[in-house]
Amino acid sequence: MAADVVRLLVEQAIRAPSSHNTQPWRFRRADGAIELHADRSRALPVNDPDNRELFISCGAALLNLRVAARHYGFLASPDLLPDPADDWLCARLTLSEAGPETPDEALLYAAITRRRTYRKPFADRMVPDDCPQRIREAAEAEDTWLSLVPAGLRESIAALVGEGDRRQFADPGWRRELARWMRPRSRGDGLTVPAPTAPITRTVIRSFNLGARVAKRDAALLRTAPVVAVLSSRTDDRLAWLATGQALQRVLLVLATDGILAAYANQPCQVGDPLRARLRDALPNLSGHPQLLVQAGYPSAAASTAPRRPIADVLDA
Ligand SMILES: Cc1cc2nc3c(=O)[nH]c(=O)nc-3n(C[C@H](O)[C@H](O)[C@H](O)COP(=O)(O)O)c2cc1C
Repeated sequence: MAADVVRLLVEQAIRAPSSHNTQPWRFRRADGAIELHADRSRALPVNDPDNRELFISCGAALLNLRVAARHYGFLASPDLLPDPADDWLCARLTLSEAGPETPDEALLYAAITRRRTYRKPFADRMVPDDCPQRIREAAEAEDTWLSLVPAGLRESIAALVGEGDRRQFADPGWRRELARWMRPRSRGDGLTVPAPTAPITRTVIRSFNLGARVAKRDAALLRTAPVVAVLSSRTDDRLAWLATGQALQRVLLVLATDGILAAYANQPCQVGDPLRARLRDALPNLSGHPQLLVQAGYPSAAASTAPRRPIADVLDA
């Protein structure tokens, strides 16, 4: 497989979302295949002790790579977790010639650069009527489920998210980890804060428990978001997390084709039981294991892009 093709695909893969923008992935060209490795040096031991979100993030990058392969006329077939001796090798992808992309595939590819996380209040505008069905199908295409949270259950879900916020911020270790990933844009990763005020912002996050304030803001966003949905998986292991990441990214790309952006309210899943179990029990139609809670709508203001590391840092020649 030509090095320049691999590079083109990896350039799109790394536009995927990742928790705290850690970008916990490495790509390697090996024996006619592309390997995707999870980068354990970028783990978040407090926020994500089981590396669940780390593998979800790698799954999102994998979906981008598959979509990009179609754009260049290939089919990328992933062999997931191919090496029982290497827990960190997420996938080995082989490329075969597969003809030109379809119009739907072209829309997904174009959405890779349009997608971004949008954390402000959404515009007061409904999503198209067929949006819920399209994103449910996108999740199911990757062997997961997406359950829409109906208006009547928003309040109880907002309470769970708020409780998650308060628990996370009450933990000094969690605050220290978050502060470590708050970085000026020039670093190429992490959650961007303006360079001149970065040291102060980090000190504030480390020193003060802002849980109550953040909980209030998150609950308000959740109440008013046009779409709130839980992505859940059949099992709760690395294979399921990779499926969840691919499903997440497919859902986000389908939304972005319509100019709809998403944000996360994952706190109940991050904190774990009993909040995660309560999330599952709160939604009568939810199947499997809840992995991510997302909210989506049209942006009400311009949304900036998050930085990425240079490709040379993530692609082994
Ligand atoms: C598995 C996963 C979990 C995430 N959790 C959160 C979250 O709890 N809160 C949040 O604001 N963003 C969350 N994000 C979004 C990331 O912070 C975001 O993807 C990253 O900063 C890069 O920005 P971008 O999505 O705009 O490219 C999550 C992303 C992923 C993939």
